[in-house]
Amino acid sequence: MITAKTKVCMIIGNPVEHSLSPQMQNAAFSALGLPYIYVACQTDDIKGALKAIQLLNIAAVNITVPHKVNAIKYVDVPDPSVRAIGATNLIIVRQNKLYATNTDVIGAVKAIEENISVAGKNIAVIGAGGAARAIVYALSKKGAVISVWNRTKRKAENLVSEFHLKEAFDLENTKKLILEDIIINTTSIGMKDTMSQSPVPAESIHEGQIIFDIVYAPHETKLLQLAKQKGAKRIAGYKMLLYGGAASFEAITGKKAPIEVMEKELLKYLR
Ligand code: ATR
Repeated sequence: MITAKTKVCMIIGNPVEHSLSPQMQNAAFSALGLPYIYVACQTDDIKGALKAIQLLNIAAVNITVPHKVNAIKYVDVPDPSVRAIGATNLIIVRQNKLYATNTDVIGAVKAIEENISVAGKNIAVIGAGGAARAIVYALSKKGAVISVWNRTKRKAENLVSEFHLKEAFDLENTKKLILEDIIINTTSIGMKDTMSQSPVPAESIHEGQIIFDIVYAPHETKLLQLAKQKGAKRIAGYKMLLYGGAASFEAITGKKAPIEVMEKELLKYLR
């Protein structure tokens, strides 16, 4: 039941109406009988929105596109992951102060490490934007050997130099991809308007690899279809959303997240 004591959480960004976080988080709050609700609020004004959140004593906000980078300018306490990545996706309000963290990092590592330990593995990261930054930060801390492929090679080179990675490639130059143990797509290729495209050609994929696509809608992207045809192990994009969401839930409530409930709820909408 919603009462005057109910704590409000939200996801803020633009667009947000497609977000599955409200369904996933509300299912989890309700499974544990916790006094929270979770809504989605669209805004273009991240500075104003964060001020309002502080004034209204909102419990926590997840931050999504396009505010993950700009939001850090307005928080009181960014944690080390936020400072290293330069982006936040979770702000918790405590004693009127905004504490920022990044649960994308936890989501990405868990999605991969429930399949394989990344230490010493050769990993190809496709893309060099915000999502790629969170992923290379997390995986390089775990001892992975990472190279970056990007349409704009200069951005791949910058990422490689900043995080002391192995090598940067133009996305067109796919020759060496076949040698990688794990390939992770962090670009938007494969989403709605590019559904028929894969960021990686079929020739670069083989049976021994793990292919992780962080695009979660459609549920089976073109890249994951190619991986299936080649007999490679696949990690679906919703896993990062799920484990990142579970980490957000735990940071907000201090309770262990009911993962099965959250996964079931997500898959209801994704399949
Ligand atoms: P996000 O926060 O989701 O990572 P972003 O910071 O805008 O978003 O980064 C998007 C990434 O996807 C970039 O690496 C981008 O390549 P560029 O650096 O060349 O722009 C990549 N990307 C997006 N659309 C692409 C497309 N159609 N083909 C190739 N790469 C694409």
